[in-house]
Amino acid sequence: MKFFIDTANLAQIKEAQELGVLDGVTTNPSLMAKEGITGTNNILKHYVDICNIVDGDVSAEVIATDYAGMIKEGEALADLHENIVVKIPMIKDGVKALRYFSNKGIKTNCTLIFSAGQALLAAKAGATYMSPFIGRLDDVSTDGLDLIAQIRLIYDNYFFETQILAASVRHTMHVIKCAEIGADVMTGPLSSITGLLNHPLTDLGLEKFLADYAKGNK
Ligand code: G3P
Repeated sequence: MKFFIDTANLAQIKEAQELGVLDGVTTNPSLMAKEGITGTNNILKHYVDICNIVDGDVSAEVIATDYAGMIKEGEALADLHENIVVKIPMIKDGVKALRYFSNKGIKTNCTLIFSAGQALLAAKAGATYMSPFIGRLDDVSTDGLDLIAQIRLIYDNYFFETQILAASVRHTMHVIKCAEIGADVMTGPLSSITGLLNHPLTDLGLEKFLADYAKGNK
């Protein structure tokens, strides 16, 4: 399973990259705003800064919601850097735009997926990735992981190549369950990656190894 980090924070992206397990980055307009990145030129520059840190796919989201606007914006984003993946919302014009970019060989990430029907449409339209938001489904008392399992079954039935990018991951158990189900990618905060390191027995075991070494080497 690929690990993407879901942030526009350059320090956190660097930290994940330096850990050596990062495969890519996802961003969205809310994450950009959270970092105080506003204005088209600043946003485009920030995408390039991210691409220069990470050796992998970087999702950059269009703001337009009409077909012509999405094509114009998506082409400009794709021209920024070879790592850019054009992120497109799951709406009617978005499905058409996915097909357009797929035919042109430009990578896409279909975002805001909340149902198996939407996942099927994204795959039919040739999306490279599609992002079911599991945390936001959990927030409304619907098991987001069930949706990942349902999409895995559907995609495997028909050998769809669209990658399931489990998004809105909130914690380490989401990551582990996504790996069990067979999501192709997960994207979450830095804590959902570094949290995988933690086990008290590891800490206790290391403490004892170091204490025993110190005793024998006084
Ligand atoms: O990748 C989608 C993600 O940014 C949404 O996460 O935590 O805002 O639901 P969240």
